[in-house]
Amino acid sequence: MKKIVFTVLVSMFFSAAVISAGPPSGLSRIELLGRHMFKDKNLSYNGTQSCQVCHHPLSGFADRRNSINPETSVVSVGADGVSKGGRNAPSAAYAGYSPMLSMYDDEWVGGLFWDGRADGGTHLRDPLAEQAQGPPLNPIEMAMPDKASIIAVIESSTYAGLFLNVFGTNAFDNTETAYDNFAKAVAAYERSTEVTAFSSKYDVARSAFTAAENRGFGLFKTHCASCHSTDANFGAPASLFTNYHYKNIGVPANPLVPLGGPDLGLGVTVSDEAQDGKFKVPTLRNISQSAPYSHNGSFSTLKAMVSFVSDRHGFTPELNRNLDQTVGNLYLSDNEVNDLVSFLLTLTDGY
Ligand code: HEC
Ligand code: HEC
Repeated sequence: MKKIVFTVLVSMFFSAAVISAGPPSGLSRIELLGRHMFKDKNLSYNGTQSCQVCHHPLSGFADRRNSINPETSVVSVGADGVSKGGRNAPSAAYAGYSPMLSMYDDEWVGGLFWDGRADGGTHLRDPLAEQAQGPPLNPIEMAMPDKASIIAVIESSTYAGLFLNVFGTNAFDNTETAYDNFAKAVAAYERSTEVTAFSSKYDVARSAFTAAENRGFGLFKTHCASCHSTDANFGAPASLFTNYHYKNIGVPANPLVPLGGPDLGLGVTVSDEAQDGKFKVPTLRNISQSAPYSHNGSFSTLKAMVSFVSDRHGFTPELNRNLDQTVGNLYLSDNEVNDLVSFLLTLTDGY
């Protein structure tokens, strides 16, 4: 009898432990819920598009269709399979550290998108969650008709129970609240260790750097870190390789991107001509995977991008105003460019 009671108690203990240990992937429940929604193609009007289609783990959470074919495919194709946005999809990883867009010492800092227009100014007070509310309703991204139809998809999905579990039994009653919770869960996933991993060679094995990687790191600190910061800033546990400032580094127009004139970037967001042509300094984490490079995908290889940063003569800037005077005037040797590329290859997660 004692033995039976003991066995029952032991098995109760183990099943309780299994339940409280959470999902096998090591994500919390809200992160796991966000992961389901990040991958759910039913959140586009014709079931072809999810966040992950344009922000794929094998492409550093940028657009896989572009990184496989960076010479010809530079901007994302929308749910209709034809429409293209005017910009190269940046990584959705590490974006969660960008603060709300604001002016510090005469410079704009923070916000999301190349031009900072997800500024964090909505009631969510979080640029990352605010950004997640855009694509499902954007006519050239996922093109859903309205919020109610998005919530209806979630309510009839396989993960509807998890949504209720995380946000309460009335979680589907109010469409506005449910759409806010959708965004909060997606943002939680984007900030989770599966997406924002800090697991590159740079993070975990810097003592194993090769001579070329070490030389590249030295050059990087001298020539690049003023923008692609090597400090652990914005509350991150390690460097984000951006200071979230905005610069016009003179990237040329890309003939593959159909636009009526130069892309004015931050200038449009803040309605100030002095900011025209400036784009957000991107993180360089997972940069080896996220070709093509720059806001319009003008450079199909990392070497071509770094060579341009070294010497931009011979390129006509998309907008020849408000140009940064350091980038493009460094005149590094070919060996130095190669060393910088070697260093950048150490920033790939999953080492
Ligand atoms: C059709 C392709 C496409 C889909 C689908 C898509 N995105 Fe994007 N995403 C882009 C492009 C292109 C940009 C850059 C737009 C710009 O800067 O104007 C972007 C920008 C972002 C950024 C900003 C990153 C930064 O550093 O500024 C985040 C975060 C993001 N997307 C997350 C998501 C999430 C979450 C979803 C799903 C709810 C999603 N995206 C769906 C193409 C897509
Ligand atoms: C004055 C600030 C500044 C400095 C210094 C700087 N960059 Fe950048 N970098 C930027 C900005 C801004 C962009 C995006 C520009 C655009 O798309 O129009 C960028 C883009 C890049 C990209 C493409 C990233 C992507 O996701 O497409 C790479 C790679 C890069 N820089 C590497 C470097 C290296 C290597 C150095 C040093 C040799 C350097 N940068 C110095 C501001 C800077």
